[in-house]
Amino acid sequence: MSALAQNASKNDFRDFDVNSVRSDFPILSRTVHDKPLTYLDSAASAQKPRAVIDVIRYQYEQEYANVHRGAYWLSETLTSKYEAARETVRQFINARSDREVIFTKGATEAINLVAATFGRAFNAGDEVVITGLEHHSNIVPWQILRDQCGIVLKVVPITPEGEVPLSAVEAALSSKTKLVAVAHISNALGTILPIKGIVSAAHAVGAHVLIDGCQGIVHEQVDVQDLDCDFYAFSGHKLYGPNGIGVLYGKEGILDGMQPYQGGGEMISNVTFERSEWAELPAKFEAGTPPIVPAVGLGAAIDYINEFDRAAIAAHEHDLLTYGTEQLQALNSIKLIGTAKNKAAAISFVLEGAHPHDLATILDRSGVCVRAGHHCAQPLMDSFGVTATVRASFGIYNTREEVDVLINALGRAREILC
Ligand code: ALA
Repeated sequence: MSALAQNASKNDFRDFDVNSVRSDFPILSRTVHDKPLTYLDSAASAQKPRAVIDVIRYQYEQEYANVHRGAYWLSETLTSKYEAARETVRQFINARSDREVIFTKGATEAINLVAATFGRAFNAGDEVVITGLEHHSNIVPWQILRDQCGIVLKVVPITPEGEVPLSAVEAALSSKTKLVAVAHISNALGTILPIKGIVSAAHAVGAHVLIDGCQGIVHEQVDVQDLDCDFYAFSGHKLYGPNGIGVLYGKEGILDGMQPYQGGGEMISNVTFERSEWAELPAKFEAGTPPIVPAVGLGAAIDYINEFDRAAIAAHEHDLLTYGTEQLQALNSIKLIGTAKNKAAAISFVLEGAHPHDLATILDRSGVCVRAGHHCAQPLMDSFGVTATVRASFGIYNTREEVDVLINALGRAREILC
C-alpha cells in the first residue's frame, strides 16, 4: 500500500481551512510597502510553515554535527534524522527503497547528475527528447551533453495553447531515443503533461524517462512506481521546505549501474592512490558533507503536507486557478499565455502596452509578489512571441481575496502604464 493510501486509511487529516493554514506561515502576516503581503510566487519558491522553521532552528541550536562521520551522540542523532528524512521522502513518492532517494542541493543538480553520469554512456547519434516548454535546467544539461558526446537533442513542439500532446511525443521517439526528459508540470504556464503516457511510449521504444518534477511534486500526488519513470527530480524549496535541498529518485538497478557524479568523502568504500571503490547507494551519489539540515527540513515540510488530504489541497488550488483565470480574462488588455485544458495553479499573462517587469514593480507597491520574466524558459517564451510574461502562482495558503487584490492592483497598474 502506498504511503498516501496509508494516510488515507488513517483518515485523520486536518480539515482544510485556508485561514488555519495561513496562520502556520509566519511571513504571511507581515506587510510590504505598508500593504498586507500577497504572495503569488510559490512556483518560484514557496513560503515556509512554522513547523519547518522550528525544525531548522532546533537542529542548529540543539542538535547539530556532521552526519555519517561521528561516533558520538550528537552526530548519531542527526544522522538518524537525516536518514529518517530520506525515508519520509521515499514514502512521499512511494519509491521501493531509500537507496533510490538521492539528496542533492536542488533539482538542477539532480538533472545535471543524470546528464553527467547516465548521459555520459550515450553515443554519438543517440537521441534525447525534450519538449518545447522545458525549464532551462532541463535543456542546458542536454546541450552540454550534446556538445561533449554528439548526442542529438530533439524538441517536441507545443501547441498554441501550451500543451504537449502525447502524439507529438510519440512522433519524436525512435529506436535511437535513449532518454525522454520532460517536465511533469510547466513552471511557466502551469500545463500538466501526460507523463504516464509519455513514460509508456518511451519505454515501448526502449528509452528511459527523466521527469522534472519541481512543480509536479507540489501539485500532484506522485507515485514513482505507478508512473514507472526511471528518474524523478525535484527541489525542496517549492514544496514548503528549505532551499539547498533537492531529490533525485532513480530506479535502483539504473542507479547501481551509473558512475558517480562527484568524487569526495563518503561516496567511497575504499581509496588508495591507485584506485577507489564506490560506496553503496545512496552514498555513491552524495559526495562531501550533504545538505543535512535542509534535508531534515524537507522531511518536516513533507510531514506538514501529510497533515492534509492532498485531494483537498488540489481542490483548493484548482479553485484559485479557475477563479484567477476568470478574473484575469475579464480584464481588458490582458492576454493569457498558456491556456491548456489540464493546468496546475499558475497563470502567465501579458498586459498589452506594458512590460512585465514594469507591471510587477507596480504590483509590488500593492504588496503583490508575482514573477515577471522568461521564467527560465526562454525557448518557450519565443514560441509565444514574447520575451517575458507576468506569472501569478498559487500555493496551499493563497485565497480568492488575494486574487482580488491582484486584480484590483492590475487595474490600477493599467491606468499608470497604458
Ligand atoms: N523555476 C522557478 C520558477 O519557475 C524558479 O520561478
